[in-house]
Amino acid sequence: MALQDSFGRKIDYLRISLTPKCNFKCFYCRPQGDCLPGDYPNPLTRWEIERIVRVAAALGISKIRLTGGEPLLKPDLLTIIRQIARTPGISDISLTTNGFFLAAKAAALKKAGLNRVNISLDSLNDERFRRITGGGRLSKIKAGIDAATRVGLTPLKINMVVIKGVNDDEIRDFAALTRDRDIHIRFIEYMPLGDGHNQWQERYLSVKEIMEVCQSLGPLERVVEKVQGNGPARYYRLAGYRGVLGFISPISEHFCGTCNRFRVTSDGMLKPCLFSGEELNLREAMDDDEAIKALFSRALDIKPSPLKPPYLAQHHCEGVRARGMVEIGG
Ligand code: 5AD
Ligand code: SF4
Repeated sequence: MALQDSFGRKIDYLRISLTPKCNFKCFYCRPQGDCLPGDYPNPLTRWEIERIVRVAAALGISKIRLTGGEPLLKPDLLTIIRQIARTPGISDISLTTNGFFLAAKAAALKKAGLNRVNISLDSLNDERFRRITGGGRLSKIKAGIDAATRVGLTPLKINMVVIKGVNDDEIRDFAALTRDRDIHIRFIEYMPLGDGHNQWQERYLSVKEIMEVCQSLGPLERVVEKVQGNGPARYYRLAGYRGVLGFISPISEHFCGTCNRFRVTSDGMLKPCLFSGEELNLREAMDDDEAIKALFSRALDIKPSPLKPPYLAQHHCEGVRARGMVEIGG
């Protein structure tokens, strides 16, 4: 059985959030500030994750991304990765991290079977980085990037959420990182996910505007060769540069028509769409593979139509508490 919906979208990519905890406090990701104790429900155990992945793989999921919160805070992360790597049908395992613990763990992650990492990084300025993350040290992230590159967790991708008045003056600096390094810099439009994005309208910057800034460094050439990854980014290269630039436009250009993913929150809810409040409780099905399969198939049925994208609609979803990225995992 393959997970294909009535719009021809084939779901082969599952993002699993391992924990809602994070050592950083990026305001756009945790708009409510610190989570209340009750907001840290029992995260999925490694046995539950293994089971979900095994059933999902039998349904045609071949690519897994581990997210958070900060997934490197999950105590048995290496065991989870080893188990996923052994699951028949899984061909790609990636992880999205803030990079803080990466220098220490990169080699072990690679050895466990992780293929590659995406690092969330929004400023190359020490003081500003500290402010955005609520106390993070940029030098640790740089060491993480170097370690990940060294052990071959590649292609290494850096995600920058571009926010007007916060870091939009660094777009060129980020793009310039691709001059001599074979890395991917991906610019992401700021999304008002969860409550508390009061100034979103004023702070939002479109991919079109971001591209114009990059073009001030030189002509952008469309990258036609397949870039390893699962996402909706459009890739370009600055003429003569080694690395590539990716542009992700969840707000300005809907890519629901080619959406290939489901998400699992750290408390075990299957989400057919990032922006929809609909969630299915995998925990209730945990002792029965057939019941898990049924939930995946139900998720396919309720995945919002690409013709009517549910953008920004989560705020209107009755009875559902709006979740920030820190809970959903991006
Ligand atoms: N808008 C856009 N991107 C976000 N991320 C977290 N919150 C937001 C937001 N409100 C990004 C993180 C990470 C990725 C998983 O999602 O920076 O790179
Ligand atoms: Fe943590 Fe990443 Fe969210 Fe920042 S963006 S609070 S590093 S999960």
